[in-house]
Amino acid sequence: MKTMEWKNRLASLLGIDYPFVQAPMLGITTPAMVAAVSNGGGLGSLPVGGLPPARVAALIAEVKALTSRPFAVNLFTYEVPPADQPERFDQLQQYLQQLYRTNGLTVPTVAFDTVKTHAYQEQLPVLLEAGISLVSFTFGIPDDASIALLKAKGCLLLGTATSVEEALALQAAGCDAVVAQGIEAGGHRGSFLPGPLPQVATMALVPQIIDRVTVPVIAAGGIADGRSAAAAFCLGASGVQCGSVLLRSPESAATPHHKERVGAVTETGTRITRAFSGRWARGIANILMDGIEASGLPLNVYPVQDALTQAVRKVAKELDNPDFIVMYAGQAAQLAKPLPAAVIMEAMRTAAEKILSGILWR
Ligand SMILES: Cc1cc2nc3c(=O)[nH]c(=O)nc-3n(C[C@H](O)[C@H](O)[C@H](O)COP(=O)(O)O)c2cc1C
Repeated sequence: MKTMEWKNRLASLLGIDYPFVQAPMLGITTPAMVAAVSNGGGLGSLPVGGLPPARVAALIAEVKALTSRPFAVNLFTYEVPPADQPERFDQLQQYLQQLYRTNGLTVPTVAFDTVKTHAYQEQLPVLLEAGISLVSFTFGIPDDASIALLKAKGCLLLGTATSVEEALALQAAGCDAVVAQGIEAGGHRGSFLPGPLPQVATMALVPQIIDRVTVPVIAAGGIADGRSAAAAFCLGASGVQCGSVLLRSPESAATPHHKERVGAVTETGTRITRAFSGRWARGIANILMDGIEASGLPLNVYPVQDALTQAVRKVAKELDNPDFIVMYAGQAAQLAKPLPAAVIMEAMRTAAEKILSGILWR
């Protein structure tokens, strides 16, 4: 396959050479990772979900200092719920403090009324000021005013769907491309419609979404090498987005022991849980996840639960103790290698090229 053939409608739309997207991974993705992938001709994605606007501005500036190629900024687009269950919070905190002590950790308590997150609406002016033109998001659809603002500035919007219905809703709201996230995926489920959590695998989800939407579809979940990338293109995807495969790269902010756990994970070593953040997410099991689940206590909603567990996660990260951090990872995470992000992405693309040569191109 000649290089030019990668310039399909998604690559042309986004202004990139290859329709290979580095998944935004809050807490893991560094500006160096974003720039490495964008400089290699793919699309880097900078996650800023919930971060203070000043931090968002600083991170965007860091990426811009490292690349002049297109990159996306990724938002958490949901309505922050009123935090109204302090008893639930305190009860779980008491249990957790005991768990921490039993495991030799001293962790500051979190005051319920100090829990604070930054809604995407607060972050948008920073993105627009910085001239960001590619905005991806998960957890929902931006409100009408935000969509109108982004569109007026000529931004392209990439929304995350975990079902056909969500993909249709994103397209109807004006999204320019849809990320179809299968249940294999590491990290949070992007699911946002009421009802049971969609648990559809990438292989099943991608073609069914493609059959129903006209915008380009980017497959995400379990894509970790040339074989899985080629398979996604065979399913009709216009692009692929991969996260877990980059967890062990030098550009990943994961600590050494965290990277070791990813290196040792098996295909059955992750599960979806609400324990860490209050939202469903796939990660590697550890004492924190098992402990919260075993407590049987009611969990807080996102982002309150996330704020509650962040206290120990911060302490554990400093100690490089993988038993009390969050290790979001997908079912194919064991395919991650400790190689630079650009090398991983290029190897995936060239291997996919070999497999795909001769196949009709979208
Ligand atoms: C550690 C980690 C953090 C993630 N954080 C985000 C995020 O901030 N925003 C987002 O849209 N998706 C996030 N995701 C989901 C990815 O965008 C993507 O759907 C997923 O990584 C694809 O599956 P894979 O991990 O099997 O490659 C995260 C995934 C991981 C593994």
